[in-house]
Amino acid sequence: MEIGCAIGYHTLPLARIASDGRVYAVDIWEEGLTFLRRRAKSIENIEIICQSGAAVDLPPSSLDKVVCLDTLHDVPEPGSAIRRWVGLLREEGMLLYRDPAIPAERIPSLSGGKLRETDRIKGVSVFVRE
Ligand SMILES: C[S@@+](CC[C@H](N)C(=O)[O-])C[C@H]1O[C@@H](n2cnc3c(N)ncnc32)[C@H](O)[C@@H]1O
Repeated sequence: MEIGCAIGYHTLPLARIASDGRVYAVDIWEEGLTFLRRRAKSIENIEIICQSGAAVDLPPSSLDKVVCLDTLHDVPEPGSAIRRWVGLLREEGMLLYRDPAIPAERIPSLSGGKLRETDRIKGVSVFVRE
């Protein structure tokens, strides 16, 4: 699940990487999603969800990864949103995260101690659900 997918700059490569799975692309920006819909027309494993990442509703423990890049600062009540995403991640699922406005160091406490940073690659932090 990608939160704040916008026009799909990351969504399309993610769908290629996850070719055996499905990418849920979430954003509240309708025009951006309309553009993404056109770009992703022939790609079957992208599901576009026009909804706040704070309210996204998928089955518990159903996701391998949540990707949230430069978006968390826009999400209301970021701690509550992150805890919701933790509940959607399977055990040892991952959050790939970057946001200059909310440093990665704050994520473990915002997640209620459920996410542990294991790596940082080109400014993107990798958190694992414990
Ligand atoms: C700075 S852009 C980042 C786009 C993309 N993740 C990237 O890194 O290129 C932030 C995106 O978050 C979206 N956004 C803002 N509030 C949101 C929310 N509550 N839930 C989901 N997406 C949101 C905006 O519409 C915008 O597309």
